[in-house]
Amino acid sequence: MGKIPQRAAVGRFHMVLAASILLGGCVGPSPRTSSEAQAEVAQQRPTREDALRMIQASERRLAPVYGPLAQQLVEDLGLGAKIGIGIDLGSGPGTLIIELCKRTKMHWINADINPYFFPYFLQQAEEHGCGGQVSAVRADAQALPFRDDNADVIVSRGSFWLWRDKVKAFREIRRVLKPGGVAYIGRGFSENLPLEAAKTVRGDRGEGPEYDIVATTHELDAIMKALKIKGYRIIRPRLGNEAGVDYGVWVEFRKK
Ligand SMILES: C[S@@+](CC[C@H](N)C(=O)[O-])C[C@H]1O[C@@H](n2cnc3c(N)ncnc32)[C@H](O)[C@@H]1O
Repeated sequence: MGKIPQRAAVGRFHMVLAASILLGGCVGPSPRTSSEAQAEVAQQRPTREDALRMIQASERRLAPVYGPLAQQLVEDLGLGAKIGIGIDLGSGPGTLIIELCKRTKMHWINADINPYFFPYFLQQAEEHGCGGQVSAVRADAQALPFRDDNADVIVSRGSFWLWRDKVKAFREIRRVLKPGGVAYIGRGFSENLPLEAAKTVRGDRGEGPEYDIVATTHELDAIMKALKIKGYRIIRPRLGNEAGVDYGVWVEFRKK
């Protein structure tokens, strides 16, 4: 993804944000309008500043992460020739989606609780030539505004630790997946990210607060068991690498 100087990025972000508000907000399929969904979204109160901070992180220290992750997803999930709908849940700036668009023919939806990301995301998609391949929908992982059996793929990076009721959110992910569809949810990096790049990202704090990776792995395992999801795979990329860099943890599962 091309680097944008901070001032220029911030200026463009606000310009497009204003345009988007005037034009009526985000685009994409009509969200489900249950009061439960609306109440949960309202409670979170995401801010423009939250979005700006994450956009800056995605353009700087996290920038090396997205291309390799997209490549890994395409290879592991067989997305190269796939036609269908993919959702990136908690996609934020949507950088992973841009990288997935470069490598797939699928339509990708940025489903995030914070709509202040969307003008930036849609502009980035235009600039990378994939404006017609993406949508943006305000969504809470715990009450997804999508109908049942809708998505071929749901991915999510660095978001699930923010979901208050993770069992509920994973149940929603399963509900929205088509039978045979696949979810790949986690935090951190992909196996193919070079160690030097991972060290640099982590050395500069990486993202979010410190966390206990063993406890998080057990938590994901417990969620799969609670939902009686069979055949899931917990992935710990580059576990025990010589530099001791934490590559995070992911879970992959298919809807039967
Ligand atoms: C650390 S950022 C990661 C963004 C992006 N996935 C990336 O890797 O660049 C976490 C994202 O999760 C979103 N998020 C937090 N809680 C959420 C929820 N309940 N439902 C949907 N998105 C949520 C935030 O708005 C934010 O965009």
